[in-house]
Amino acid sequence: MSPEVNLETIVSLCKRRGFVFQSSEIYGGLAGFYDYGPLGVELVNNIKQEWWKAMVREHDNIFGVDSAIIQNPRLWEASGHIAGFTDPLVEDEVTHKRYRADHLAGVDSNDVEQLMKLLEGKKSPDGNPLGPVRTFNMMMKTYVGPVEDSESVAYLRPETAGPIFTNYENVRETMRAKLPFGVAQIGKAFRNEISPRDFIFRVRELEQMEMQYFINPNDQEKNYQNWRDFAWQFCIERLGISKENLEWHEHDASERAHYAAAAHDIYFKFPQGFKELWGTHNRTDFDLSNHQRVSGKELTYFDEEKRERFMPFVIESSVGVGRLLMAVIVNSYYEEEINGEKRVVLKIKPSLAPYRLAVSPLLKNKPELVNKAREVYGTLKKVFGNVMWDDNGNIGKRYRRQDEIGTPYCITVDFDTLEDETVTIRDRDSTEQTRIKIDELETRLKALLLI
Ligand code: GAP
Repeated sequence: MSPEVNLETIVSLCKRRGFVFQSSEIYGGLAGFYDYGPLGVELVNNIKQEWWKAMVREHDNIFGVDSAIIQNPRLWEASGHIAGFTDPLVEDEVTHKRYRADHLAGVDSNDVEQLMKLLEGKKSPDGNPLGPVRTFNMMMKTYVGPVEDSESVAYLRPETAGPIFTNYENVRETMRAKLPFGVAQIGKAFRNEISPRDFIFRVRELEQMEMQYFINPNDQEKNYQNWRDFAWQFCIERLGISKENLEWHEHDASERAHYAAAAHDIYFKFPQGFKELWGTHNRTDFDLSNHQRVSGKELTYFDEEKRERFMPFVIESSVGVGRLLMAVIVNSYYEEEINGEKRVVLKIKPSLAPYRLAVSPLLKNKPELVNKAREVYGTLKKVFGNVMWDDNGNIGKRYRRQDEIGTPYCITVDFDTLEDETVTIRDRDSTEQTRIKIDELETRLKALLLI
C-alpha cells in the first residue's frame, strides 16, 4: 500500500471505477447503506468463493447452510441479543445528535461507568455538553404479517451465527456428523449502528462469513488457536494481504460481546488506522445451553467412544465481507511513476481481480484489427470467464484504466498479429510486454494466473 493513501482516495476510486456506490444515491443516500457496482460485485464474489473453498470445501467436517434473515424472535431472546446487543450511546444536549460514547472517549469499551468517568466534563464534537451514557440496542425491528403489534415483532438477524446454532442438531443428524465439526454461512446481517462511518467499514447492512466449530469443552485452547491461525493465513495467502498491515488485538473483559469468554481480532491497517477485520471468539456453551433452556429441546452431545454426554463448546470465526473488500483494495493500492508518468495500480491477487484479462485492438477504427481482437476475446472469455473488452481511448489510457481496476494482464492485437498470429501480453505489475503466438496464449495465461 502506498503510505499516503487516505480514505477519500479509496472512496473516490471505488466510486469512479464502479466498486462501491452510495445506496439510493440519487435521493441523497442513506447513512450506513452501500451498493456494490459491477467491479465490486466481482471482487466480493471472488472473496466469498475463496473463503467458501478454504472453509467448507477443503474441510471434510465443515458444512454450509443458508438460513433465513428473519427467524423466530425467541432465537434472539435465547441468544441474549434482545437484552444485551448494545452499544454505549451519548447525546449532545443541544443538537440532540447521538454518538458512540466509546468513540468519543477514545477507548474500546462497553463499560458505562468507565465511559461516564472518561467523558466527564468533555464536550460533543459541536462543542456542547453531553448527556449521560446509555446503552442502545442495535437490533433492527420489523413486523411479520398484516398486523403491526407486539405479537408480530421480528428482527433482522444481527449476526449470521444465530441460525447456525438453531440448525446445529439438524446438520449433525443429516450429515451424521461427529464432534468436532463446523457449520458455515455467508449472508447479510443488520445492525442499527449509532454512528455508521468510515465508508463501508461500519455499516448498518453488512454481509458476514461465519463458522461455528462445535467441540468437546476439553479441546477449547487447541481449537481456538487453530481458528486464529486459519484467519491469519487466509488473509496472507488467499487474499494477498501483507503481514505488516495486520496485527492481533486481544479483547479485555470490557470489550467482549456478551456471549464470548475470549476474543482475538485481527486488525488491519485501514486508512483511519489499525481497526478490527476478523474475530475469533470462544463462545463456550453459551448459545447451545440457552437455546436448550428456552426451546426445551435437548441439544447435548453423546460421545459414543468416551461414553460421555456434554454440551458442546463453540469456537467462532467471524468476518465482514465489506471489510475484507476494503482491506484488499487498500492493501493493493499503489501510486507509482513510470517513465515520468503517474499511475494508480491495484496489485490485487489475480485470483481475486474483478477482471483477469482485458483484450484490445491497437486501434478501434481498423476493422481488421477489431475483428481479430474480437476472435481472441471470444476464445479467452470461454476459457477464463471474466475477461473485459476494452477499446476506449488510446492504448496508454487503456493500460492505466486496467491498472486502476487491478486487471493482471492486457492482451493487445496489433498489425504484427495480422502477419504472424502473435499478440502482446502486458503485465500489470512490471508493465513489461511480451509477444506470444495466439495458439500458446491459453497455456501461458493459465500459468501466469496460476489456474
Ligand atoms: N457472530 C459474531 C459477530 O458478529 P462481531 O465482532 O460483532 O462478531 C464480526 O462481528 C465481524 O463482522 C467483524 O470482525 C467485522 O468484520 C464485521 N462487522 C461487524 N459489525 C460491522 C459493521 N457494522 N459494518 C461492517 N462490518 C461489520
